[in-house]
Amino acid sequence: MYLTRPPMGFNTWNTFADNISDQLVREIADRMVSDGYLECGYNYLVIDDCWSLHTRDEQGRLQSDPEKFPYGIKALADYVHSKGLKFGMYSCVGNYTCAGFPGSYEYEFIDAKTLAEWGVDYLKLDYCYKPQTEDGARLYRRMGLALANCGRDIVLSACSWGADETHKWIKSTGAQLFRSTGDIFDNFGSIREIYNIQKNIYQYNGQGCFNDMDMLVVGMNGEGHVANRDNFCTLEEYRTHFSIWALFGSPLMIGSDIRSQTDATKAILQNKAVIAINQDPAYRQPYLFMSKPGNADVWVRHMDNGDLVFGIFNMSENTEMFPLSFTDHIGLNRTCGVSLKLFDVWDMKSLGTFKDIYVTHVEPHSSKLIRARICED
Ligand code: GAL
Repeated sequence: MYLTRPPMGFNTWNTFADNISDQLVREIADRMVSDGYLECGYNYLVIDDCWSLHTRDEQGRLQSDPEKFPYGIKALADYVHSKGLKFGMYSCVGNYTCAGFPGSYEYEFIDAKTLAEWGVDYLKLDYCYKPQTEDGARLYRRMGLALANCGRDIVLSACSWGADETHKWIKSTGAQLFRSTGDIFDNFGSIREIYNIQKNIYQYNGQGCFNDMDMLVVGMNGEGHVANRDNFCTLEEYRTHFSIWALFGSPLMIGSDIRSQTDATKAILQNKAVIAINQDPAYRQPYLFMSKPGNADVWVRHMDNGDLVFGIFNMSENTEMFPLSFTDHIGLNRTCGVSLKLFDVWDMKSLGTFKDIYVTHVEPHSSKLIRARICED
């Protein structure tokens, strides 16, 4: 299966971790539809770790925990599908999942068949407890083959955290997305760390195998498994986080509890103009346009309709001035005879038409997405 756009959806891990159940997943499914998430493109609902029993059945099949999922996974998948959503689950290339449940090592073909029978559309495959003598690429390839031959279209979401230079071999495995970093946390330091890692590997992103920068923490507000009540992102930092994930074309998997979202959070997660950048049909990689000390950077991405998007990410602790010279990197010099008509995507306002240069200031931890249309002088 070939994906042309980064997947969008919801994953249970960031907020709920072990605390998952049939009822929770059904409630999330309901809210994804009733609160407008599905309409914005968030169509995968993924159950992460901790859904199974600690033992396989007599035929070697994974079995769901009957206390958490009393009606079984097939019934839950049917419910999720009845809402117009796709259904995802989690396993691991190693002997155990990261939380210690059975992993898929040497059970790949059995597990792929079981998932297909249950009606699963997406498998997140983690990297814990990989036997040391085994090569990660080999294990992802084995599951890639098992899924490709299980009789159902199942997306393979590799979660090897960028280990062993994942980006160099992952496209050979059949994975449609790959985690390029360790786990995200709900604080700005974590966002900055993940962002910095992208500076060396963003070139490996592309249609068919997307660079997954990890699930979003937007809207966690200090609540949930990967959050800390004493130190969590501000609204402005969430906006920066979402802007980066959007411009870099990362999958957008919501990790906060969408049942108790504030309007301010929804305004970020459901911003259709920002999502449109992430989901742009041409799916070009961004390029670094300018970089100031402290990771105060500007990136540019070319859109399918001929527009450009400037992503200005001020990860530093100081307010910075950004002089965007259109000749630099983009190559729009005087002889082109064109200007740029600029639109601030978050503020939804036109900034005017500029020739040669546009200068703007951005506060610490803040960002701007500016969509530019080429016009004749
Ligand atoms: C980590 C993974 C997380 C989550 C967790 C579950 O390895 O990066 O996203 O899936 O395992 O135990």
